[in-house]
Amino acid sequence: LEKRALESLQTVEALEALDAWRVMYLGKKGELANVLRGLAQVDASLRPQMGQLANDVRDRLERAFTERRDTMQEAERQKREAAEAIDVTLDARVKRYGAPHPLQYVIQKIEDIFVGFGFTVEEGPEVELDYYNFEALNLPKDHPARDMQDTFYLSPDVLLRTHTSPVQARTLLRMENNQPFRIIVPGRVYRRDDDDATHSHAFTQVEGLVVGVGIRMSDLKGMLLSFAREMFGADQDVRLRPSYFPFTEPSAELDVRCIYCGGSGCGTCKHTGWIEILGCGMVHPRVLEMGGYDPQVCTGFAFGMGVERVAMLMYQVEDVRHFYVNDLRLLQQFSGLA
Ligand code: PHE
Repeated sequence: LEKRALESLQTVEALEALDAWRVMYLGKKGELANVLRGLAQVDASLRPQMGQLANDVRDRLERAFTERRDTMQEAERQKREAAEAIDVTLDARVKRYGAPHPLQYVIQKIEDIFVGFGFTVEEGPEVELDYYNFEALNLPKDHPARDMQDTFYLSPDVLLRTHTSPVQARTLLRMENNQPFRIIVPGRVYRRDDDDATHSHAFTQVEGLVVGVGIRMSDLKGMLLSFAREMFGADQDVRLRPSYFPFTEPSAELDVRCIYCGGSGCGTCKHTGWIEILGCGMVHPRVLEMGGYDPQVCTGFAFGMGVERVAMLMYQVEDVRHFYVNDLRLLQQFSGLA
């Protein structure tokens, strides 16, 4: 019995099995108890000796049991500790924070400024009808100014918008006739240009449109001056230079005094002292009419800003393609912005 019990004890692997072993050999109804009970039938002269023997066996089995239990518990503990171990000598993991893309940051800043001027933010589709992109903006089918914007056509009537101006037409049509409003429209636009340092077939504009009673060219200039000062600094200078767009009359382009040389001339401003950032003008009466507005009652101004232009200026990025390749070496330089 002792030999069998000790052998089977060595094969016990789990703590539950160990308990079963104890019940089987040392329990009240176990094998050893059986033997002790059998002593009653043994001859009285042999009983003390047999009893002693049985007691010794029980002591040894109990000792073996305790030993086995301790080893198993120790092994279990070591296994658990190994699994929970923390290597306190490991370097801490460096947290890497994301950052808004510089273009996104610039759009956000432009939006914030105009929202502060009472504008609301609108959006429009990038896949646009020829009608809204051209026709409703006073550019009929054969108009030579269509060549100013080399267009990706998807079909004769559908195209990738070449500017955010179609949202002017859409908004005029959506509004109650002659209802005054101010909107800005950030968005992506497309032109059939060969990509180089200053051109991209896809780029970003922010359109602005203000319509109401008695809106004048001086309102346009005042608002753009205020914008430039919020955007680039309190003493930023601007100038309007006459230009041409079919959907504005008169038309102009807005230059800001070069933020690097302050106007004395440098490489960034090609030694002119000024940098162009947007096209603008008074909304053409035909555009108001086609939008359901009465040009005798309402006037308006509009502008369209090149976001990459502004971003390149602000951060001295010399190649527009840097904005689209998502090279972390560039992007990480903007991680402190927002
Ligand atoms: N849509 C013109 C462009 O893309 C910019 C512009 C917008 C000019 C609004 C005047 C008024 O070049």
